Amino acid sequence: MAGFGDGLRASSIGDAPPLTRIDPTIPHPARVYDYLLGGKDHFASDREAGEQLIKLSPGTREGVRAHRHFLRRAVRHLAGEAGITQFLDIGTGIPTQGNTHEIAQGINPEARVVYVDNDPIVLVHGRALLTSSEEGRTTVIEADLRDPESILAHPQVNAILDFTRPVAIIMAGVLHFVTDDDKPGELVERYKAAVPSGSHLLLSHITLDFAPQVAEGEFTKPYDKGPASMVPRTHAQVNEFFQDWTFLAPGLVEVVTWRPDENEYQEPIPGGGHAWAYGGVAVKP
Ligand SMILES: C[S@@+](CC[C@H](N)C(=O)[O-])C[C@H]1O[C@@H](n2cnc3c(N)ncnc32)[C@H](O)[C@@H]1O
Repeated sequence: MAGFGDGLRASSIGDAPPLTRIDPTIPHPARVYDYLLGGKDHFASDREAGEQLIKLSPGTREGVRAHRHFLRRAVRHLAGEAGITQFLDIGTGIPTQGNTHEIAQGINPEARVVYVDNDPIVLVHGRALLTSSEEGRTTVIEADLRDPESILAHPQVNAILDFTRPVAIIMAGVLHFVTDDDKPGELVERYKAAVPSGSHLLLSHITLDFAPQVAEGEFTKPYDKGPASMVPRTHAQVNEFFQDWTFLAPGLVEVVTWRPDENEYQEPIPGGGHAWAYGGVAVKP
């Protein structure tokens, strides 16, 4: 059986085993997110950062769950109606319920999924938790999205994905960990350029557009001690990441309003009903 762990190995980031490179003393985005989602893979530093976020926005947990629902709906659309069979999911997060490969292979068992994350904890849990369908293939690599070549030229990525056929690039909840100094727009363009016409971009991003009362410095403070700063962006700034590609309806919108599913319970989000995140899907012409 072709499984998640096929050829799994230490990555372009470091050769020490992933477990030895986990730093519990500072908050890491993957673990804070896991805490907010109600997972079990976090340390005191992550919980502290998560609680600071909840203090600023009482709807943080519900908003994060709404974001996961958006991801699920969008992947379902890509694997179904859009007929996408290959997924490059960058900024995977710690495996939880409804991971990309489970959703995509649930619709098309032959779907192929490559997960990419720069946090070693994702690799540790990825190996333990994820398994692929018989027909499809799933793998995870540890790499940094700020180094597109290390991902696009990675042998495991190329063993699973065929870049001459459409690929869905997924960047869900990850670009707000890339500062303007790292030129996120240019990075996204590099990935977009590597895939052919008919490929899709699924992207979501934190925003303070719905929370004018919150100072950006306050919002980003929980991550000040961590390995990555957090950068909320406006609708116009997030929109830029999609440039030259064609939005699927309804365009770039609050994640809760992207094709809501009437069969899916949508819990109320305290503090105004906003998830503080934009999401959209676009196709390469
Ligand atoms: C908020 S989680 C999002 C998880 C998942 N994509 C989702 O939307 O549910 C962000 C993930 O991006 C990863 N990440 C942050 N910066 C990254 C980078 N420069 N390269 C690769 N992954 C990164 C973090 O480790 C974390 O797992």
